Amino acid sequence: MSQLFSPLSIRGVTLRNRTMVAPMCQYSAQHGFANDWHFVHLGRFAMGGFGIVMLEATAVSPEGRISYGDLGIWDDAQIAPLARIAAFLKEQGASPAIQIAHAGRKAATPIAWRGKFNETEDEKARYAFESWKPVAPSPQAHSANPDFQTPAELDAAGIRKVIDDFTAAFIRADKAGFEIAEIHGAHGYLLNQFLSPLANTRTDQYGGSRANRMRLLLEISEAARSVWPADKPLFVRLSVTDGSAGGWSVEDSVVLATELKARGVDVVDCSSGGFDGYALKPAALYQVPLAAAVKKTGILTAAVGLISDAVAAEEVLQQGEADIIALARGALDDPNWPVHAQHVLDRSEAAYGLWPRQAAARMRDRDRALEIRAFAK
Ligand SMILES: Cc1cc2nc3c(=O)[nH]c(=O)nc-3n(C[C@H](O)[C@H](O)[C@H](O)COP(=O)(O)O)c2cc1C
Repeated sequence: MSQLFSPLSIRGVTLRNRTMVAPMCQYSAQHGFANDWHFVHLGRFAMGGFGIVMLEATAVSPEGRISYGDLGIWDDAQIAPLARIAAFLKEQGASPAIQIAHAGRKAATPIAWRGKFNETEDEKARYAFESWKPVAPSPQAHSANPDFQTPAELDAAGIRKVIDDFTAAFIRADKAGFEIAEIHGAHGYLLNQFLSPLANTRTDQYGGSRANRMRLLLEISEAARSVWPADKPLFVRLSVTDGSAGGWSVEDSVVLATELKARGVDVVDCSSGGFDGYALKPAALYQVPLAAAVKKTGILTAAVGLISDAVAAEEVLQQGEADIIALARGALDDPNWPVHAQHVLDRSEAAYGLWPRQAAARMRDRDRALEIRAFAK
């Protein structure tokens, strides 16, 4: 059997295979509550055979949302609709996962597909429009684009609140039934802002040296691990490099990964970018070397970014460059990507086992009649 479709055990969780749906903001929530859109959007990936289905960046506080349409996990009342999704993902054989996030200075921005604030008064009422002032390590706007406000600088009490908000969010994620939770430390959002000299000009213990810039993420990882059950895996997503001159580098991430591992983080989900001046060129498998560099520290890694070919994905695992293969747009393009990929990699009748039981036998009949996949002559 292929490595991609072999189970993987991390702590007390056994993944049915090594495919993952990467977190994808839907900008479709009101007041942070998950609804039927999220249920269907995510459910189809579990039905399609993914090993892990991860919910989008879910904010630890209202001010930590990228947009007013983000999911939230700051209120106990938000648990029930999340729990409904987690239960369905689990029932379909996927491991339910959630990304826990704070946008920092990149908060309160327009809904992605609108690209600007052009809501009519009627839409504002219908979609629960909200606007607020973001917080960040330093009072510097993300860019000259006026959609990014100049944030308020977090003081010591503000930083304490961020840690407490993450801790409370992890407790709620556990109650909602998620088996995996990921701290969002990437893409130029709050924790990445603390890590990167491009956004952090503080002179206290959370700024200056690399050790000081890593402090908040490490404290949050420790706090999360202290409330997240010992049998549940903890992931951290990093921009392994900002990809911008003077920013956070791969070497920095290697040092950070060692510290994260020492604090009970199991997997680094290896992405990149999030600041102006990003210079990596997107191409097939372009972020795999980042996962490979971090994996050398001994921590497990997830590779993500323009992975669509099953054979190439298997090769990444065979070469020991990553342990998990994550897809975002590839999953939107084909929510059944794992079942299709397994038919390519494991050309046996066993591959039909990844289809939902409602479909498996019928797909086998069809393929036998067409003499394709396991029945190709
Ligand atoms: C619609 C959409 C929403 C996204 N939202 C998030 C998010 O909430 N959190 C995150 O870490 N990355 C987010 N990303 C980035 C993806 O998780 C992924 O890293 C990136 O799209 C590259 O993978 P791909 O080439 O398979 O799409 C998003 C990407 C897309 C396409």
